[in-house]
Amino acid sequence: MENKKNILTGERPTGRLHLGHYFGALKRRVELQEDYNTYIIIADVQALTDNFDNPEKVRKNIREVVLDNLAVGIDPEKSTIFIQSMIPEIAELTVYYSNLVTVSRLYRNPTVKTEIKQKKDVFGNEGESVTYGFLGYPVSQAGDITAFDGALVPVGADQIPVIEQTKEIVRKFNKIYGPTLVEPQHLLSENSRIKGLDGNEKMGKSLNNAIFLSDDYETISKKIMGAITDTNKIKKNDPGNPDNCMVYYYHKLVNKDNVKTVNVECRAGTRGCVDCKKELIESMMKFLKPIQERRKYYEERPEVVDEILKKGTEKAGKKAKEVMKRVRQNMKIDYFD
Ligand code: TRP
Repeated sequence: MENKKNILTGERPTGRLHLGHYFGALKRRVELQEDYNTYIIIADVQALTDNFDNPEKVRKNIREVVLDNLAVGIDPEKSTIFIQSMIPEIAELTVYYSNLVTVSRLYRNPTVKTEIKQKKDVFGNEGESVTYGFLGYPVSQAGDITAFDGALVPVGADQIPVIEQTKEIVRKFNKIYGPTLVEPQHLLSENSRIKGLDGNEKMGKSLNNAIFLSDDYETISKKIMGAITDTNKIKKNDPGNPDNCMVYYYHKLVNKDNVKTVNVECRAGTRGCVDCKKELIESMMKFLKPIQERRKYYEERPEVVDEILKKGTEKAGKKAKEVMKRVRQNMKIDYFD
């Protein structure tokens, strides 16, 4: 039991979670909690690197992200959910790790690079808007992972370069100060990137193409009715190509029992897009039902959620202190011990 490896994973509290999160990370996370000590970080410090001017947004979304985790089946008896900023050891590790990584290496990190490009649209000027805190978030993420001896890190594909950065820091640390930190491995889900309703390669809140786990029937109906279908299928009985259709793409995810029929009927021209969308709406709601029921249970019991977070943060704090002790000893900064 005690030799179980640790998992460290989590998300930034910047909004409710969507199908991209579910298939990219949460589904696997729920399975893995059976076999590993799972720590789930609600990365508010990291969220603030992008949202330092909007702390209310981060604060509000801590609860949403916790609710979504509980809703998909994270069991607080098996997994430890905690708030990043309440573990000062992470910030401390970040300072020490910042000596082990060059600024140019951070600029070359593909995830950071893409995110800097996206920022350009908001601020106008790419280079000038990059803060020290933002550029350094992969260093802080190395702190998130190593403070809990995280051996496995289940993440979506876009996070791989960030985990790679952690590995480099760990190797360098262990080489200089002696074996201290656990080198993590990333774990990808089978569907590690889910396309958006508009056909975009990535489903994202800011891309406005997401189906949220907590969306109600009306919202989902509207979104699915507006989803992109095969543009060559104009009339109801035209044969279509499901491979060019977002509706079919989601049928594959949430309507596994009937997806073959959907494919055959679409190609044969015996299935109209409107009926096909209606079927998807029903399948999507059926798929989300248990998730939304669990969410409702916890939404109605805020004191239970508070207690889960409080207990989880306490437990995480103990673990981080233990790791920090090792770090301080090996770095020879354990002055009064
Ligand atoms: N960077 C991750 C994201 O954007 C969130 C995150 C913060 C994380 N700390 C982590 C993921 C540690 C895995 C491990 O979703």
